[in-house]
Amino acid sequence: MDKINDIKELINKKMSDVKTLEELNNLKVEFLGKKGLITEVNSMIKDVPKEEKKEFGIRVNEVKKLFNDKYNDIKVKLESDLVNKKLESEAIDVTLPSIRPVVGSANILEKVIEEIEELLISMGYDVVDGPELEEDKYNFEMLNIPKGHPARDAQDTFYIEGEEILLRSQTSPVQVRTMLKGKGEVPIRMICPGKTYRRDDDDATHSHQFMQIEGLLVDKNISLSDLKGTIDVIIKKLFGSDVETRFRPSYYQFTEPSVEVDISCFNCGGSGCNICKNTGWITVAGAGVVHPNVLRMSGYDPKVWSGFAFGFGAERMAMLKYDINDIRVFYNTNLKELSNFDREVDL
Ligand code: DAH
Repeated sequence: MDKINDIKELINKKMSDVKTLEELNNLKVEFLGKKGLITEVNSMIKDVPKEEKKEFGIRVNEVKKLFNDKYNDIKVKLESDLVNKKLESEAIDVTLPSIRPVVGSANILEKVIEEIEELLISMGYDVVDGPELEEDKYNFEMLNIPKGHPARDAQDTFYIEGEEILLRSQTSPVQVRTMLKGKGEVPIRMICPGKTYRRDDDDATHSHQFMQIEGLLVDKNISLSDLKGTIDVIIKKLFGSDVETRFRPSYYQFTEPSVEVDISCFNCGGSGCNICKNTGWITVAGAGVVHPNVLRMSGYDPKVWSGFAFGFGAERMAMLKYDINDIRVFYNTNLKELSNFDREVDL
């Protein structure tokens, strides 16, 4: 009986010192394990005189219960302490300002192209694609620029294989490809925005790779005035209804007559500024009435069909529209610089 009382005292003392679940489990071994203190007194019951057996048994059970009650209480408390500590360390202050996600934006060059595409699609044009690795035949010959023609020098071309395979120096070969598909029979309305390449030294206004937006319309009774009307609609959509277009005589081998398209300076309204170099006008495209030779070579009878074509410089249009003074910003992959243009426009 004394021993049982000692164990009770020991339980009370040891339990009040317990700080961790590990210590608590060690106590379980110490008291209830194979050689535990309670196990030991429990096994003494057989040596207890008969008349005291009952009393002894009750006391042993009491001490067991004492241990188990304490054990369970402390276990629950230690476990909930652990959970609370974890919650505390993982607490989130929802009032703190968040990190702003980086939002991507459409490239402004792409935006200009899409704006023209949308407009021309609404006028019945198809957007078509052509290869950047092109054959001399399509890039030059079938555009009425035979081998040895001096006009080839003006477009300093990247040749890839001999004189036959090159990086296209203009998107005009897509005119030829589209007409060949039309088999000389159906009217054509197409635009092709795409990359072009020339052996230019890169500077603020030149890039060895740049983009053009080609357009071609072939139908019956098409004249220069159809071209003028179409170009005028494109320009007014892009730069505003106050902007005027002017057509200056020019020369291209694949159009006759050929023109250069100027727009009145939207910055100074024509009085002269540094954007228009004090002329009041800015050149944005080459264009013209499709040369009969070009129609014929691509299978369209020039006695039946006629057409117009145009080629815009895409970067030039974007630079004018978004007030950019260096073509290299489109290609230096400086996202900060590019997204700044975008923000200015969207605000
Ligand atoms: N391909 C010409 C160039 O790169 C631009 C051009 C001129 C395209 C007249 C045309 C056109 O479609 O009709 O300089």
